[in-house]
Amino acid sequence: MRQFDVLVIGELNVDFVVRGADVVPAFGQREKLIEDATLTLGSSAGIFASQAARLGLRTAIVGVVGADLFGDMVLRELSERGVDTHACITAPDLKTGVSLILAPTAGSRAILTYSGSIAALRADQIDRGLLVQARHLHIASYFLLDALRPDLPQLLAEARRAGMTISLDTNWDPTERWQVEGVLSACDVFLPNEAELLAIARTRDVASALAQLSRVVGLIAVKQGAQGALARRGSELAHCEARPVRVVDTTGAGDSFDAGFICGYLRGWPLADTLRLACACGSLSTHAMGGTAGQPTLEEALA
Ligand SMILES: Nc1ncnc2c1ncn2[C@@H]1O[C@H](COP(=O)(O)OP(=O)(O)OP(=O)(O)O)[C@@H](O)[C@H]1O
Ligand SMILES: [Mg+2]
Repeated sequence: MRQFDVLVIGELNVDFVVRGADVVPAFGQREKLIEDATLTLGSSAGIFASQAARLGLRTAIVGVVGADLFGDMVLRELSERGVDTHACITAPDLKTGVSLILAPTAGSRAILTYSGSIAALRADQIDRGLLVQARHLHIASYFLLDALRPDLPQLLAEARRAGMTISLDTNWDPTERWQVEGVLSACDVFLPNEAELLAIARTRDVASALAQLSRVVGLIAVKQGAQGALARRGSELAHCEARPVRVVDTTGAGDSFDAGFICGYLRGWPLADTLRLACACGSLSTHAMGGTAGQPTLEEALA
């Protein structure tokens, strides 16, 4: 009997979301008043872990924060949501990462990120005991994990030997080189959005990208924003329309989707039901500012 269902490894940061028509800055010492501002738990890993715990998965997380107010906030928000943070690292010489998200309309965002502790996690800081204490390993924001990336193939091999299943959401590659050799083939589940899928497969066609990558990784779910999502397992395909929702903020919808998908996957649900749960989590998360305030429980998502 393992202590955790899911171990999340990834980046940790806060999001400062400012919203309203007037969020486009005017330089020259001009002050503008904006509609709304929210400081909240950010990061793909943190938002995933929060949704996983809310769905009832026993969840632990490993990431690095700085010894500062934002770092304290990240760890406290995760703990309050039921995520085990004991294996997180506080680096005294780093500042916690922060993303400033400017959202002039519900659908459009500009993001300014100060990386800080985001890229700092190293393989030697990860407690290997966790690999036998959790059933599943989720890797978030692969392309931001600069210090861990070279050692990740080795870590994934250790996780697999320890009996874990593995999922990956790379998110966007800021360098746009899109190199995932050595990690994709080590995963059971790959969770890109459409743009990321096409960039990694180096094609413009979703069907051929799915066909190509499903020879490398057994189960792929592709997020398509307001269009919903697609999934492929071997030759089996599933599609789910996104529910029309009154979107407040789409930050982290993809990470809530991922947690919903892994919840269905770990419960052994059929592909179509797994995808439907994922889409429900993604869509409902857009109902509130920030990535976590709108996240549903399993009951709410099923309803
Ligand atoms: N505008 C929307 N209306 C309805 N559902 C949405 C909307 N945006 C996202 N979703 C739901 O959330 C899921 C994931 O969102 P999205 O496609 O934006 O992922 P992503 O690009 O990985 O996001 P992230 O910015 O979190 O990385 C979608 O598949 C859909 O089910
Ligand atoms: Mg994403």
